[in-house]
Amino acid sequence: MAALGVNIDHVATVRQARRGREPDPVVAAREAEAGGADGITVHLREDRRHINDEDLRRLRRIVRVPLNLEMAATDEMLEIARSVRPDFAMLVPEGRQEVTTEGGLDVAAQEERLKGFVARLKGAGIPTSVFVDPEENQLRAAQRIGAHTCEIHTGRYAHAGDSLYHPEAMDERGREVLEAAVGRELALIAAAGLVVQRLGMRFNAGHGLNEENVGAIAALPGLAELHIGHSIVSQAVFTGLREAVRRMKSAIAAGCRAD
Ligand code: PXP
Repeated sequence: MAALGVNIDHVATVRQARRGREPDPVVAAREAEAGGADGITVHLREDRRHINDEDLRRLRRIVRVPLNLEMAATDEMLEIARSVRPDFAMLVPEGRQEVTTEGGLDVAAQEERLKGFVARLKGAGIPTSVFVDPEENQLRAAQRIGAHTCEIHTGRYAHAGDSLYHPEAMDERGREVLEAAVGRELALIAAAGLVVQRLGMRFNAGHGLNEENVGAIAALPGLAELHIGHSIVSQAVFTGLREAVRRMKSAIAAGCRAD
């Protein structure tokens, strides 16, 4: 069964709404671990809009499962990664105005630069994951720059299916069209997962996943790890974070069993 990395940025987003001290992402990491998280992910953004440098240092001290640092490929982030030493560095594109990471990293367009960047991370003992769309040219470029892992962007799959959970607003034809779109996106991710493995990299996936749509992704052959944040933190408002993580792990297990 695929492991579950829990993204806790969303907890820091709530804290930053008041620029206060609560809720504390470090407590969130502990609770997520208690609920069975196999990894903790945070994104240190250039503008520090949610997670900040102090959070990262405190998390490094208390997190027992692998700590995954999502970051832009900049010199500043390289220095921080070298000093904090996360278990993984995940390279993502970063746009100032975006609400969340909006698309995969265009590895193919900046191959030479990223190759050097990945080599410097490797030199510091940090394996690199790249967040990419399910497109073969990006996967091949990821292999050429020396990426250890590809995290396949599942956002288009997730968003294609969003309206399926509001069936009252849809007639039968509308449902068929949406289901076909979801099927197409799922097929692209499945094919990308096979290419990633054939190229000798680790196959991870994430973005926009929730208890309803995670099953089909969890069932993909060779999937190593899922990264999920928003849906787990949303569920935690009602049940607490431990239980929200447990519920997501059950949904992943159910998806694997249904395969
Ligand atoms: N993977 C990456 C690279 C991300 O940037 C995010 C966003 O936080 C996630 C996974 C998790 O996405 P979500 O919060 O929609 O579950």
